[in-house]
Amino acid sequence: MATSTGKLRYTTPGIPTEAAERVVELLQGRLHATNDLHLTLKHVHWNVVGPHFIAVHEMIDPQVEEVRGFSDSLAERIATLGGSPQGTPGVLVQERTWEEYSIGRATTQEHLGALDLVYQGVITSYRDAIKELEELDVVSQDMLIGQTDKLELFHWFVRAHLEDKSGALSTAGAGSEEEAAAAAAE
Ligand SMILES: [Fe+2]
Repeated sequence: MATSTGKLRYTTPGIPTEAAERVVELLQGRLHATNDLHLTLKHVHWNVVGPHFIAVHEMIDPQVEEVRGFSDSLAERIATLGGSPQGTPGVLVQERTWEEYSIGRATTQEHLGALDLVYQGVITSYRDAIKELEELDVVSQDMLIGQTDKLELFHWFVRAHLEDKSGALSTAGAGSEEEAAAAAAE
């Protein structure tokens, strides 16, 4: 099976090859994250049930489309830098550092509780990559900053369903998707 790492034969002008190889690794990590996220969001779109079905079902699809677009931009940036983007499911599963989304058919609140944790993980890892790209490649960094802006907006859409009048989140302190789903359902 192909993997993400590899020596570059060329890259864009003005970036040392070793730096570009690390940039490609960071972008590949983001490509796995966004491919996983848009598939997970579709899974949620199909599996939500309950009285708020249509609102949540329809809220999710624009997020899927946007995140799929992020994958395309990340993959094409990898190719631009002389790398080979890895977009097959096997490589994603082999290389990802997080667990499979764990909730099946469940209420809208349960899925939104679990999605709160999913977005926390994705956004935190985006910010880690943004910090590292500061020294390596500000053009790739700019792409990730733009994507993070949208991811944080979508995270707010999710969290607005979990928030009470005081601004407290029902999922506060939850350490797993199951815990967050249970807390959101209460
Ligand atoms: Fe659909």
